Amino acid sequence: MYRVAVIKGDGIGIEVTNAAMEVMRAVTDKIDFVEFEGGIELFKKFGVPIRERDLEEIKKMDAVLFGATSTPFNVPNYKSLILTLRKELNLYANLRIIPDLWRDREIYIVRENSEGLYSGEYEANNSRVVDFRVITREGAEKIARFAIELAKDRNFKEITFVHKANVLRGDRFFRKIVLSLAEREGIKVNEKIVDSFTIELVRKPWQHKVILSENLFGDILSDLASIHAKSIGVIPSGNYGEEIALFEPIHGSAPDIAGKGIVNPIGAVLSGAMLLDYLGLDGWIIWNAVKNYVKKGNLTPDLGGNAMTVDVVNGIISEIDDQEIDPIEWDELWVDEIRINTIPTLFRK
Ligand code: IPM
Ligand code: MG
Repeated sequence: MYRVAVIKGDGIGIEVTNAAMEVMRAVTDKIDFVEFEGGIELFKKFGVPIRERDLEEIKKMDAVLFGATSTPFNVPNYKSLILTLRKELNLYANLRIIPDLWRDREIYIVRENSEGLYSGEYEANNSRVVDFRVITREGAEKIARFAIELAKDRNFKEITFVHKANVLRGDRFFRKIVLSLAEREGIKVNEKIVDSFTIELVRKPWQHKVILSENLFGDILSDLASIHAKSIGVIPSGNYGEEIALFEPIHGSAPDIAGKGIVNPIGAVLSGAMLLDYLGLDGWIIWNAVKNYVKKGNLTPDLGGNAMTVDVVNGIISEIDDQEIDPIEWDELWVDEIRINTIPTLFRK
């Protein structure tokens, strides 16, 4: 049995996490889900986004499923729950899969997840505030390796590396590391300067397979790229460390539509698929079921339909049930599908 920590968060985080667990349970009975509290409500009561003892428990789990929490900028001293988890669990790589569910293609955005302008290092006095944009050799090497291994696993010949090395010293350093590692691994690096790349990402997104970037650039580029998935509600992500990984849809907590039963569960459901892949279980079954469902099923309002969350969940589960696979064909199909749908073995337990 695997033990998966579940932090639903607030707003729509609760509904989408419940949906993801329901779909995962339709695929496997090998997971015990253990729930933990966290987020802004906990902070208001106890002054921390998550309890220290819970954090210690979570570190012992096999993986984490996360919903969404609000990160307000007007609550004094609030430290974002998701940023706390990324830091405490040493989750250095953030992989966001922008899927075109209707045409079976994806863009993989690999965002450095622990350094850059999110380092938390700063200097401040009454007249000047400086946030340090930290790039370390170790951090740059690890994230470059992650992107390159991902590309190799998918049989891509190149990665797109997005930087601002014409201005920033840190990116010049980062760039040297990426280029030398890629050369050693036989992967071509398609280099792009971040500002002009935004135009390309709007106009011709699908020619980029794996996009590698620093933390804040990756944050912005992944939201921008989300328009190509038709709704931010369908985009899953994984935050990977050396010991554990955390999976979350990239959307926020959307309090305005929370509790109405109309949120799109697909981003969380696909995050569940990435989690299964990480544990070496069959995440591809969920990917296939989602792709089959969206082509014919009623969708939630963000995708122009009038379905409720529960309709989409039930639709996906019935697609899973329809994928009755003859055990004799199983191995072959698995090997065939794994190239398209799963996280590289390297990142699995
Ligand atoms: C994200 C979010 C977070 C980030 C916020 C909520 C702190 O935008 O996961 O992309 O900036 O990383
Ligand atoms: Mg963001």
